[in-house]
Amino acid sequence: MFDSGLGGLTVVRALRSALPDEDIVYLGDTARVPYGTKGPETVIRYALGCSRHLVARGVKAIVIACNTVSAVAPDHVRAALDVPVLGVIDPGARAAVAATSSGRVGILATAGTIASGAYPRAVATQSTRVEAIGQAAPLLVPLAEEGWLEGDVPRLAVERYLAPLADAGVDVVVLGCTHYPLFRDLIEREAQRMISPNVRIVDSARATADDVVAFLNDRGLRADPRPTGGSIRVCVTDRSGQFHAIASRFLGEAIEAPELVDL
Ligand code: DGL
Repeated sequence: MFDSGLGGLTVVRALRSALPDEDIVYLGDTARVPYGTKGPETVIRYALGCSRHLVARGVKAIVIACNTVSAVAPDHVRAALDVPVLGVIDPGARAAVAATSSGRVGILATAGTIASGAYPRAVATQSTRVEAIGQAAPLLVPLAEEGWLEGDVPRLAVERYLAPLADAGVDVVVLGCTHYPLFRDLIEREAQRMISPNVRIVDSARATADDVVAFLNDRGLRADPRPTGGSIRVCVTDRSGQFHAIASRFLGEAIEAPELVDL
């Protein structure tokens, strides 16, 4: 699994609870994070570098935990490396289509993901009657990294980002970025207040974990159950002083020292 940084550990967390016996190698490109503000050519180039590194480690499949990468790069990685690649956009779009009654779903994501149009495309392949309305919510990424998850600053940012979605009449809000599950309670509360008490929140991390389970089952690739469970190996391209605090916040459990890799 790889991500632009440590936010993808929210996807590891979801995957771990669905697939406790799998060994997971997680590569966080902490030297080059964020990807969400960069153009598609750069993101594709970075994604190929991360994927080559994981293939060299002998992985059986790659899960792209990053929404921004999943929006633009999966086909490029598949074509270049001939490895099964799963992203987070299709599962999130599928879950959103299943959850909506009004036929209008809101997507919160990075500027890069919104600009790519990947969510509206993925939603359109699921249903011609559902429309996806995107809203870039870039400030939530640094706030999550800072651990600033409650209080006036994140609440005002969430309110600002939800307003256009409320105006558009959505009844589902997709957390279309690795960092946003950390704001799930806040986003849900504000969405219930601003949109409707019945608004549904879709966490693409969980939807992706379900997809990976189905993929491994279909291919007979699932690891055998082990009393100790699978391992998590975390690799990073830069070891910042904040690693342990940030990583354990996203993963929800203590984490061993990361391995430093050079792509
Ligand atoms: N991992 C990115 C995503 O899910 C968020 C952080 C970044 O901008 O790199 O889109």
